[in-house]
Amino acid sequence: MQLTFYGHACFGLEMGGKHILIDPFISPNPLAAAIDVDSIPADYILVSHGHQDHLADVERIAKRTGALIVSNYEVTSWFGAKELKGHPLNHGGKKSFDFGTVKYVNAIHTSSLPDGSNGGDPGGFVLWNDDSCFYFAGDTALTMDMKLLPMTCPKLDFAILPIGDNFTMGYEDAVIASDFIECNKIVGCHYDTFGYIKIDTSAAQKTFSAKGKELILPAIGETLNI
Ligand code: NI
Ligand code: MN
Repeated sequence: MQLTFYGHACFGLEMGGKHILIDPFISPNPLAAAIDVDSIPADYILVSHGHQDHLADVERIAKRTGALIVSNYEVTSWFGAKELKGHPLNHGGKKSFDFGTVKYVNAIHTSSLPDGSNGGDPGGFVLWNDDSCFYFAGDTALTMDMKLLPMTCPKLDFAILPIGDNFTMGYEDAVIASDFIECNKIVGCHYDTFGYIKIDTSAAQKTFSAKGKELILPAIGETLNI
């Protein structure tokens, strides 16, 4: 699978011949200034929760592409009021789309929308089809609920975890999360974007490698073959 990092917690990938975009926050991110938001393809936009740093560019990209917004009920309803189409999920629920299955799983965090509306409870996603399966944790603390993933989802090929600390788990807890989800190939995100979440990336990678795990930190704009 080709996975492109657009900065912060935003990723684009192709699955089952469809373009999936997750948590687009690009135009307000100075570190992602080289990314052309208006050329990113999207058939589906997945939104983990209501915070601005996960949905700032959803409206702009969905209006251009006609992408279906997949998120929790509150977030899809909020975009629905802007005439954008969505598919609502809630925790523990999964839905088969034409590219594969999406399951909305628990995250421990908050989820108010930019205008103060209730963004429901935050979540993460597990996506799978016959070719691949991965977990996008969203913004979350380390949680015992992560142990449910190996029991309820296909084996993960990789997982995207926040590592920036302060607003989410830090890399030390992300190492434990990788044990809980039984996946040793981790792509890190949600770090270095703001002062609160600046981290020592080489210490993070050493912490993973000391446990025999891989922490992949793509450059913004980089596409991984994963
Ligand atoms: Ni958040
Ligand atoms: Mn965030």
